[in-house]
Amino acid sequence: MQVERELAGLKATTQAWRARGERIGLVPTMGALHAGHTALVDAARREADRVIVSIFVNPLQFGPQEDLARYPRDEAGDLEKLRQAGCDLVWLPTPAVMYPPGDATRIEPAGPAEGWEGAARPGHFRGVATVCTKLFMMTRADLAVFGEKDWQQFQVIRRVAADLHLPVRILPLPTVRDGDGLALSSRNQRLSTEERGEAGRLPRALEALAAALAGGAPREPAMGRQRRALEAQGFRVDYLALVVPESLQPWPAGASGEARLIVAAHLGSVRLLDNMPVMIPPRTEA
Ligand code: PAF
Repeated sequence: MQVERELAGLKATTQAWRARGERIGLVPTMGALHAGHTALVDAARREADRVIVSIFVNPLQFGPQEDLARYPRDEAGDLEKLRQAGCDLVWLPTPAVMYPPGDATRIEPAGPAEGWEGAARPGHFRGVATVCTKLFMMTRADLAVFGEKDWQQFQVIRRVAADLHLPVRILPLPTVRDGDGLALSSRNQRLSTEERGEAGRLPRALEALAAALAGGAPREPAMGRQRRALEAQGFRVDYLALVVPESLQPWPAGASGEARLIVAAHLGSVRLLDNMPVMIPPRTEA
């Protein structure tokens, strides 16, 4: 497995691959890798001849109140996991490579970037869209795989790639979950043992709500009940919403079809995100 920290090395390798007609799959990450990331590598392997994993804790997507310095980092552990996962190249740029002196261009996504995480973390999706666009162009990837766990992020990146005609296919991978249903996330490491024991209640609440809505339960009372139940269990809920999957707009009253439940909730100091599909039957009351 090749490890590159400078653009020249990355470009020489990707040019050679492209010259041989090999398709390149990219898995963008911020490191602290877990089984969710290795599932993304497996998915990229199935679709491409070569797999690049980028590891870059992107300062541009952290707000001033968010602790960039506390983001978990484990380069040696990550490299070992990627070796075992069959990654071909790890792209490990420094901030100076990604944002060299004079760097001034930003991608400002709208549409699905507005609201929810976009409202809770101003500037976050600007940082994500900018770094992902740079990563797509640096690696010249044919496809990039993103986890559905960050549903809004996936929709934002898909929109940016489509709107800018970026020559990269954006593929989703269903959320990888622990035995109790908790979506795998690097931030789970920061849960205390007790909080980790409670965290599985969040996906269970989403599942129960999805089943109720799919069974025709009126939306607002069902959502209110689950929100109150979560809060009684110690979660501080930022939002729990039913949205149109691609646009992230609130699901229109009376509409039927495939919707998405999205949630963000704090457990102690950790902010957990999750989402699930839900099929809303015809004639559901708003
Ligand atoms: O989901 C992440 O880990 C990050 O937001 C991403 C896509 C790697 C961009 O920094």
